[in-house]
Amino acid sequence: MKLIHVQNAGRDYRLVPGTEPRPVPGPGQLLIKVAAAGLNNADLLQARGLYPPPPGASPILGMEVSGTIAELGTGVTGWDRGDKVCALLPGGGYSEYAVADSGNVLPVPDAVDLIQAAGLPEAAFTAWTNIMDTGRLAPGETLLIHGGTSGIGSLAVQIFAARGHRVFTTAGSDKKCQAAQTFGAARAINYSREDFVAVMKDATGGKGVDVILDMVGGDYVQRNIEAAAIWGRIVNIAYQKGSKTEVNFAPVLTKRLTLAATTLRGRSPEQKRTIRDALLQEVWPGLGTKVRPVIDRTFPLEQAHQAHEFMAKTGHIGKILLRMP
Ligand SMILES: NC(=O)c1ccc[n+]([C@@H]2O[C@H](COP(=O)([O-])OP(=O)(O)OC[C@H]3O[C@@H](n4cnc5c(N)ncnc54)[C@H](OP(=O)(O)O)[C@@H]3O)[C@@H](O)[C@H]2O)c1
Repeated sequence: MKLIHVQNAGRDYRLVPGTEPRPVPGPGQLLIKVAAAGLNNADLLQARGLYPPPPGASPILGMEVSGTIAELGTGVTGWDRGDKVCALLPGGGYSEYAVADSGNVLPVPDAVDLIQAAGLPEAAFTAWTNIMDTGRLAPGETLLIHGGTSGIGSLAVQIFAARGHRVFTTAGSDKKCQAAQTFGAARAINYSREDFVAVMKDATGGKGVDVILDMVGGDYVQRNIEAAAIWGRIVNIAYQKGSKTEVNFAPVLTKRLTLAATTLRGRSPEQKRTIRDALLQEVWPGLGTKVRPVIDRTFPLEQAHQAHEFMAKTGHIGKILLRMP
């Protein structure tokens, strides 16, 4: 099978096509004939040597794919060869065939294009577990999602707007803000010329926002604390502006806030299965109607390096995919 290797891992890495034998699914696993793989920032970090895959995971890049089931490992029930699926992987997605734990796989309904479905798993799992499990978003509460046109943000805004929440979001340009509003954001804040703390206070009648999903960090740590409502929950999934900052924790105490941060990749297949089950029940029924993958660009597999360069420029809206030959 064709796949992508990382050459010269580090700052000046290159992604080059190669070939290897197909992987074999173990007990409880599925072999997927990959239609497309989604790109994630973690792939760029892994290629630079900054984010090693978890123990036991494939060293091949790629944490999400769509495709059809080619083989079932022993003990797998509920799936058949030929089923159209998308899957969250600990690694191995930039490849014509990939192995997934059967509990980390979701069906692709007819209303969703099979290639575009590669952009769903990482964003759906990350948004759901951080906003619902860690953030404990309750009916009627308000939500602020930073990076509303990111791969994660573009899906998260849709999911939680469709569930009836007032979703606010930030983005770095008017073009991105307009896109975020088409995803269902009640208000998209252009952070290059607006202060999201002031906008959030104004939009909530001075109360502040109940749950914040943050991928920015740096000075946003303090500003999120200021923008949060009493009993608010702030969940970080990344610290793109830095993980070291000076913070005044006094308002965390007086507003009874929860500050949390989590990663998805290192969780066990069983823990991911629980998130998968929640998505299947709560999000998948609206897939293709209320919630759609947002795809900026699709590159052929052999242009994986150009795809990484495109992602690093951060101009994209939604997901970037690699299409298999
Ligand atoms: N913890 C986890 O489990 C987990 C899981 C998946 C992803 N992540 C992380 O979550 C982040 C988002 O992932 P993704 O795939 O959605 O990435 P992505 O599509 O590349 O989006 C990154 C977004 O961050 C925004 N951004 C970057 N620097 C910023 C800054 N200084 N201030 C404000 N916004 C900034 C950019 O928006 P603008 O252009 O509008 O600034 C961009 O839309 C990544 O850092 C990724 O590593 C974490």
